[in-house]
Amino acid sequence: MAGISITSSDRVFVLTGAGISAESGLPTFRAEDGLWAGNRIEDVCTPEAWRRNPGLVWTFYSKRRVDGAKAQPNPAHFALAELEGRIGDRYFLCTQNVDDLHERAGSTRLLHMHGELAKSRCERDCGKPPVEDHAFYASLDEVGRCACGGRMRPHIVFFGEMPLEMDRIQDEIHKATLMLVIGTSGSVYPAASFVHWARQGGARTVYIGPEHPLNASAFTQIVEGKAGEVLPGLFDVE
Ligand code: APR
Ligand code: ZN
Repeated sequence: MAGISITSSDRVFVLTGAGISAESGLPTFRAEDGLWAGNRIEDVCTPEAWRRNPGLVWTFYSKRRVDGAKAQPNPAHFALAELEGRIGDRYFLCTQNVDDLHERAGSTRLLHMHGELAKSRCERDCGKPPVEDHAFYASLDEVGRCACGGRMRPHIVFFGEMPLEMDRIQDEIHKATLMLVIGTSGSVYPAASFVHWARQGGARTVYIGPEHPLNASAFTQIVEGKAGEVLPGLFDVE
């Protein structure tokens, strides 16, 4: 398999999705047995769901917290952390994943655009930052309230909400000469647009995963395979 060459003038922007954590045992969303097969998005992952039945939303994310805490990073997470170790500031990772497997593999220059499982925040925009929270809430009575009186909600970007830190993301994509997209179906926006933004800036764009994503035609190269099998040894760093 041809490697991906990274020269000393390259700046790398990486976008990861649920597929990179699949080999760690965490289900993806849109697979036949995925998270959205057993749970309706409109019941657990929209602002309306939160208003209607916050207990159900917390049950869903509490279970995912427990699963996320049990999972271990796989060779794909480690390969990316190693790449960051080699190119430092010329590396930036944006993940759609809410698990912390990238951090636990050693990545530091990363941003969670869809939030983080192990944090909670006030349901009101009262200005209080998210707080670390590993609790499994069996009932809504156990969920705390913010000083302002608002109920604490998962620090998760629901469908219909704006992803986090879009300005920073756009800036990093603008600077990138190489975009690597790993394990995401290309079906959720704005993340699915990133490859187009990178192409407009003249960057090389590579997709890595076992199936072609919906936005496959926007990539200059597709590397077919499971992330944990393909990523280790894929990069030829100058
Ligand atoms: N290695 C790499 N990719 C894989 C692997 C693997 N071992 N196994 C599966 N994949 C790929 C699948 O082929 C699929 O294209 O991972 C992708 C997972 O797609 P989705 O389930 O749609 O997940 P994702 O793209 O991350 O979803 C985006 O949607 O539900 C929302 O907010 C949620 O962040 C999520 C967003
Ligand atoms: Zn508050």
